[in-house]
Amino acid sequence: MDKRKIGVLVSGRGSNLQAIIDCISKGDIPLEITAVISDKDDVLALERAAKAKIAGFTVNRRECSSKEEFEEKINAILIKAGCELVVLAGFMRILSAAFVNRWQNRIINIHPAVLPSFPGLDAQKQAVNYGVKISGCTVHFVDEGTDSGPIILQKTVFVLDGDTEETLAARILEQEHKALPEALKLWAENKLIIEGRCVKILA
Ligand code: GAR
Repeated sequence: MDKRKIGVLVSGRGSNLQAIIDCISKGDIPLEITAVISDKDDVLALERAAKAKIAGFTVNRRECSSKEEFEEKINAILIKAGCELVVLAGFMRILSAAFVNRWQNRIINIHPAVLPSFPGLDAQKQAVNYGVKISGCTVHFVDEGTDSGPIILQKTVFVLDGDTEETLAARILEQEHKALPEALKLWAENKLIIEGRCVKILA
């Protein structure tokens, strides 16, 4: 049986992309990544895609006259690549409601905090500054808001005395690399049922 195809949107390092690539190549997730799309040139994520022989694309926002055109280009690549699901793996742009609605319940994001705490930018810094004792990561479906969609799964880490944004981010990242592949495996196996803003996981 053909594997279901997904597209991954990235903006930089691509360590979450790598985690997915590694799980797929080990045979742990019955999916195929058919497009990696970056909003920036020359990022490590695109090198990772090339190394894994996955088609990589750059869609530069500055080269588009509007956000609409930017998203139209991304959409066209995803459609051409036969993607059923879009994964935001460190993609640092907010997608418009129009794009989200087009891909309703078919966009998954990883965020480095236990939502609904600390949405948006610099989540790990927000957690350190707030003084929380537990943080972590959240994998969720994307809705029209910022980091507000139905939660698929979360993993936690302790925030330690003396943690900086960087040390906390590194500890959370280890959990991200487990959480995102785990969520994608559940999606690939049709085990995620969205009910309102809750996600039920079938046994
Ligand atoms: C990850 O920590 C991811 O959770 C975060 O960016 C990093 C990307 O790392 N995403 C967000 O903050 C989105 N709001 P990576 O490029 O090595 O996967």
